[in-house]
Amino acid sequence: MAIKTCVFDAYGTLFDVAAAARQAASEAGFEALRDKWPDLATHWRLKQLQYTWLRAVADAHTDFWDVTQDGLDWALEATGLQGDEKLRQRLLDLYWELRAYPEVPDMLKALKDGGLQTAVLSNGSPPMLDGAVQSAGIGDVLDDVLSVESVGVFKPHSRVYDLVQDRFGCARNEVLFVSSNGWDAAGASGYGFVTAWVNRASEPMDRLPWTPAHVLSDLTSIPELAGL
Ligand code: LAC
Repeated sequence: MAIKTCVFDAYGTLFDVAAAARQAASEAGFEALRDKWPDLATHWRLKQLQYTWLRAVADAHTDFWDVTQDGLDWALEATGLQGDEKLRQRLLDLYWELRAYPEVPDMLKALKDGGLQTAVLSNGSPPMLDGAVQSAGIGDVLDDVLSVESVGVFKPHSRVYDLVQDRFGCARNEVLFVSSNGWDAAGASGYGFVTAWVNRASEPMDRLPWTPAHVLSDLTSIPELAGL
């Protein structure tokens, strides 16, 4: 089956989630973050994701902005940075304007020029995703930005992956689903999408019942994988 639609996870895949902590650490007034930002970024991301999974299994959904703030509060306390309200606010503000990885605009343009459909499918709430897409300037090379908020549960619930078929009407094996989150690529493989795991950090493969069809180190070869 030929690929008709390329669907991308947002945070960590198109947008660099560590950029908020890295950027704040370089700014005046946040010297306390200088040595701690890598730990803070790692704790923040991991807690944010854990809260999505826990809320999904506990049937206690709230939107991704809430779990992003909860994850940050846990991470600030774990790194001894709690109580600095200016730092907290700066980190949250930066999360709305995360930079895209450098290869993203050209890669998406190549897919569109090749006649493929493109979309984001993310845990992010619609306003968060609008902010990130706008600040990366990639709105004109995306056909749609799909948020889990329309089904009220986080990835990797199958109702989330259903959103792609609902929107584009293509068969599961006509979708190339791309994520830097091993568990998301695995979940989407189990669902029936053709998947690519973007393993920028050379992490071990997640031990789950499904494996991604492709493992990449960045997004440059996506157009080729999609058959262009
Ligand atoms: C997302 C998270 C999982 O964008 O990165 O859905």
